[in-house]
Order: sequence, then C-alpha cells, then structure tokens
Amino acid sequence: MRTLAELERIASACVLCPLAETRSRVVFGTGNPKAELMLVGEAPGRREDATGIPFVGQAGMLLDRTLEKVGLRREEIYIANVLKCRPPGNRDPLKEEIDICRPFLDEQIAIIAPRVLAPMGNHAANLFSSKRLSITKAHGTMFSYKGIAVIPIYHPAAILYNRTLEPALVDDFQEIVRFLRSGARAAREADQLSLF
Ligand code: URA
Repeated sequence: MRTLAELERIASACVLCPLAETRSRVVFGTGNPKAELMLVGEAPGRREDATGIPFVGQAGMLLDRTLEKVGLRREEIYIANVLKCRPPGNRDPLKEEIDICRPFLDEQIAIIAPRVLAPMGNHAANLFSSKRLSITKAHGTMFSYKGIAVIPIYHPAAILYNRTLEPALVDDFQEIVRFLRSGARAAREADQLSLF
C-alpha cells in the first residue's frame, strides 16, 4: 500500500479533470494519518484553494469551534474532501468530477483506516451509501461502510446559512465522541440495514 505522502504527491500533480486548469492548489487533506475519526467535506473553497488546507475559511472556523465544544482537536483527526480541487465559483461538484476524484479519497480511507467516517453534507454522505440519503434525515444516524462506522453530519457551511441547525451538529459530534470512547466498531452491514 502507498503511504499518504506518496498519494499526496500523485494527487498534487493530478490533471484528470478540468478543475486542474482553474485550481491554485490541490487540497489533499490534513491531520493525523492514524486518526480514528476522518471527516469528509465537499470541496475546497476560495481560502482552501489559496492555502492548500481544508476548512480554513468561514465554514472551517465554525468546524473548529464545534470540535472544541466536544473536546476534539484537529491534530487528532483527519480532514479531507470529496473533491481535491475547487470548483469555480464554489459550484456543486459534478458527478464526473466526483467519479474521477473518488479513488484518491478511497485510498486515503484505506491508508488511514479510521473507526469513524463522518461525511459532511449530502455529497459526501451519498458516497458511502447505496441508498440515496438526505442529510436532513440521515445526520446523526450510523451505518457501516467497509467495516467503518459512518455517521453523516451537517456540513458546517449549512449551519452558516441556517443557525438553527447548529445544536444538531454539536449533538452529532457528541455522538461520534461517545462512539469513539466506547471502543466499539461498526456493526455488521446486515444489522444496519434496518436503520433506514
Ligand atoms: N467546504 C468544504 O466542503 N471543504 C472545505 O475544505 C472547505 C469548505
């Protein structure tokens, strides 16, 4: 298996889709390569594109505040996005872009092997489910993906638009922390089907 550093070197030179022409930096992901919790956002925004680091803009500040509230530090988790390059004007990722970029995320997940994956928002959550999920219903629930517990949560940017969602994001993070502290692993796929 490749190391994260090797994978990052390859991703940083990626020209597999047209986003390579408009990006400033590839935003590969940051954090603890041995993290038990991996957060998956949607795609870099303007500040992320400029710095090469995920979640450093307004949504990132809200994420940092939320992490602090539940006693998590960025250094102990890993944060990546579905797309490694910024879509122009922060438009939604296209299906083709997601399909092309996904192997990078899959390999990151395989290398890091987290106990919990927390996809943020609809685009990320739907990568891990064979059923079409709406984050409004699916946030805070749990299902299993390749033996990893998946707990979808609201995207921090959604909270910036609708502050009434903030307590749900904090609650869901608390649930994630409880699961991590319990030492549990994802239940078998078959047990999870009944959740939906
Ligand atoms: N939104 C995301 O989904 N990812 C980032 O890195 C920043 C904002």
